[in-house]
Amino acid sequence: MSKPRRSAQLLREASETLDPQNWDELRALGHRMLDDMIDYIATIRERPVWQPIPDAVRAQFRDKLPRAPSDLAEVYRDFTDFVVPYATGNVHPGFMGWVHGGSSPVGMLAEMLAAGLNANLGGRDHMPIEVERQIVEWTRQMFGLPASASGIFVTGTSMANLMAVLVARTATLGKQSRRQGLGEAGALLTAYASKAAHGCISKAMDIAGLGSDALRSIAVDDSHRIDVDALRARIARDRAVGLDPFLVVASAGTVDIGAIDNLTAIAELCREEELWFHVDGAFGALAILAPELAALLEGIEHADSIALDFHKWGQVPYDAGFLLVRDGEKHRDAFAAPAAYLRRETRGLAAGSSWPCDLGVDLSRGFRALKTWFTLKTYGTDKLGAVIQRCCALARYLEARIEAEPRLELLAPVNLNIVCFRYRARDADKVNGDIVVGLQESGIAAPSTTVLDGRLAIRAAIVNHRTDVCDIDRLVAAVLEFGARRSSAANDQAEAIEPPLAI
Ligand SMILES: Cc1ncc(COP(=O)(O)O)c(C=O)c1O
Repeated sequence: MSKPRRSAQLLREASETLDPQNWDELRALGHRMLDDMIDYIATIRERPVWQPIPDAVRAQFRDKLPRAPSDLAEVYRDFTDFVVPYATGNVHPGFMGWVHGGSSPVGMLAEMLAAGLNANLGGRDHMPIEVERQIVEWTRQMFGLPASASGIFVTGTSMANLMAVLVARTATLGKQSRRQGLGEAGALLTAYASKAAHGCISKAMDIAGLGSDALRSIAVDDSHRIDVDALRARIARDRAVGLDPFLVVASAGTVDIGAIDNLTAIAELCREEELWFHVDGAFGALAILAPELAALLEGIEHADSIALDFHKWGQVPYDAGFLLVRDGEKHRDAFAAPAAYLRRETRGLAAGSSWPCDLGVDLSRGFRALKTWFTLKTYGTDKLGAVIQRCCALARYLEARIEAEPRLELLAPVNLNIVCFRYRARDADKVNGDIVVGLQESGIAAPSTTVLDGRLAIRAAIVNHRTDVCDIDRLVAAVLEFGARRSSAANDQAEAIEPPLAI
């Protein structure tokens, strides 16, 4: 092919961008999408919290790779017909399962704007990085950490906890361990968390190459707070046999019941023993914004690192996990890795070091900071704190409803926003498991379950700013109704198997 013919061909190809031929059509459809999604949120109460996915709908997503284009309006119709009705449900005020945030319309709009900018926050000198730095600074101030602190957005607290273990590991073994491996010294490292700590801590120890057995699971008191004397004793025992304790992970809001460890006592112990003091504050840490709750977190200001999720109680859309590290130098020591193609300059786009890629695993990173910045700035932290406080007040209301109802039983103290309870029944584990599935499938409410002292509990975690007294009342009424139905079915079954004793 001659040169001019080749460039003519290239010109034709250049017109084949992914941008639309008709921007007005795209604009009109885009406006409709935005209106639809705003309507979806505004009318969320009119829909079930969640509904099972019919096989035919699931089958829509077992399609062949689409080689040919489709009309955007048709693709959007697939989304509205097949995805929207079968979403998780955590936007809904009746969603109380696990610990899912409800998000906000402001966060949604910010997410759209971020996608438009398509910024890569691995590094370089651009304003989106400054937005992330602003959040780092605000978060540092929230928890009273020194100016030397550093922070970074990550997917969620599982990742933030893993990164904290890696920072603590490198700080203990020295930077050379990143080249040389963990060696004999690494094999001696031991870490400590309560029995009530989240499973991702053990997973972090495993992934960090320290082994999940090196995580000591310390006893808790009746309120699920770590037994600090038992912690101290276990550290002493490990030292006595030549092991090298290096890290304590305190929980600020345990996943099961929202217990907050005695952070002041743990901070003191870590100071005496020269251990890294990490706080898993996945959801509980943001209680610092609520004046009535902030005192529960006393001692967090001494933490060497704090993991938290803005996508939980911060009401930022998924995902927006965050790691804050007291000593930014130690944070960088754990992750920074120079490369010729990532050379830093003092001017131009490659300026602005240090870059977020020096503080974590990811090089390509999205603009999570924007939806967090919009949320914090638009609502203000006082309002977010009031939402958090109200979630806890609703949890206490649910606790009072349970205590006033002889058919229900509270299974754990209500520390924050999580209520664990059950319907009293003969085969209570089975009946309560069935109640939760029934509630979810009915679309009335979506609590989850956990097991406390070997007993299955209905677990209601109130995280969503939309949840109100009427949602708690609906939950209680539905538990009672489903409970009566399931326990009479269970009784019938039991009677069919073992006939009543003849008197
Ligand atoms: C106490 C605690 N830690 C860690 C996690 C994990 O957080 P993520 O799901 O954001 O990874 C959770 C999740 O609920 C949690 O409650």
